[in-house]
Amino acid sequence: MSTRTTTLPGGTWTMGDLTVTRFGYGAMQLAGPGVMGPPADHDGALAVLREVADLGITHIDTADAYGPAVTNQLIREALHPYPDSLHIATKVGAVRDEQGGWPVARKPEDLRRAVHANLERLGLDALDVVNLRLGSAVGREAGSIAEPFEALVELRQQGLIRHLGVSNATAEQVAEAQEIAPIVCVQNHYNLAHREDDELIDQLAEQGVAYVPYFPLGGFSPLQSSALSAVATRLGATPMSVALAWLLRRSPNILLIPGTSSAAHLRENVAGAGLPLSDEDVAELDAIGR
Ligand SMILES: NC(=O)c1ccc[n+]([C@@H]2O[C@H](COP(=O)([O-])OP(=O)(O)OC[C@H]3O[C@@H](n4cnc5c(N)ncnc54)[C@H](OP(=O)(O)O)[C@@H]3O)[C@@H](O)[C@H]2O)c1
Repeated sequence: MSTRTTTLPGGTWTMGDLTVTRFGYGAMQLAGPGVMGPPADHDGALAVLREVADLGITHIDTADAYGPAVTNQLIREALHPYPDSLHIATKVGAVRDEQGGWPVARKPEDLRRAVHANLERLGLDALDVVNLRLGSAVGREAGSIAEPFEALVELRQQGLIRHLGVSNATAEQVAEAQEIAPIVCVQNHYNLAHREDDELIDQLAEQGVAYVPYFPLGGFSPLQSSALSAVATRLGATPMSVALAWLLRRSPNILLIPGTSSAAHLRENVAGAGLPLSDEDVAELDAIGR
């Protein structure tokens, strides 16, 4: 399949020299409960990843902290050797502790270790996109990102990383990163009901930088809103379909990475993201997060 044409909803987007389908896949849900340990259904997890590729999805989001190591190993087992069209984005900057916490690990040596762990587990010589994961498990935190971001720039100069991004970043941190080196994406918490980044999304769209909302379906607590349910009922669709279709419509630089551990849900989400929304639907949905 060509990387520049797709029948998937939303079409494609180009990050640096990488063209990806705007409908991507977030792999976090493939690990065990609490994103720790292996999945209950190993073969089922492999089947989801193979379905991702079969559907023509060319953007997978992962992190070595998922499991830890679990989702990267599953991706490799299911899909290596990777088709040229497939691009895997990963994140560094947090690790896991024995209680399932996500302690920060952003010293230059932590980041070097994390990049090498991702390379090894994914079976790659270079990582397509590496996001520097900022803040903490609780959310964003203001402050300079120069030291960790410069460490990643150095790894990119060594040829281990193709493109850089930031995650869980404030607008000031995005701007600081861009003063140091180009970024191709920002991955932050955003969905119909969580709209703090509206202005940032529009700025990034003008710059041609992708915005990748995590928790597009609400993450661990599904999106719930009477306005969303009303629009979904009127359209004969699920709230999840409406939420994904709204994101694709919200801005052309938005790339979807909904997570699922179910091949049936994956197919439902692909079909749902293509739901046509009228201007009236969009106006009602826009009011939810305002
Ligand atoms: N940068 C960061 O800090 C950060 C943080 C969190 C996540 N992420 C990334 O963002 C991706 C997306 O976030 P997410 O997976 O946590 O949340 P999400 O995409 O908002 O929601 C995933 C949840 O929705 C359920 N779901 C998906 N499709 C469904 C359907 N058709 N019907 C019913 N339930 C459905 C999934 O359950 P089933 O498994 O049962 O389908 C799962 O519980 C992650 O996979 C990860 O790659 C990044």
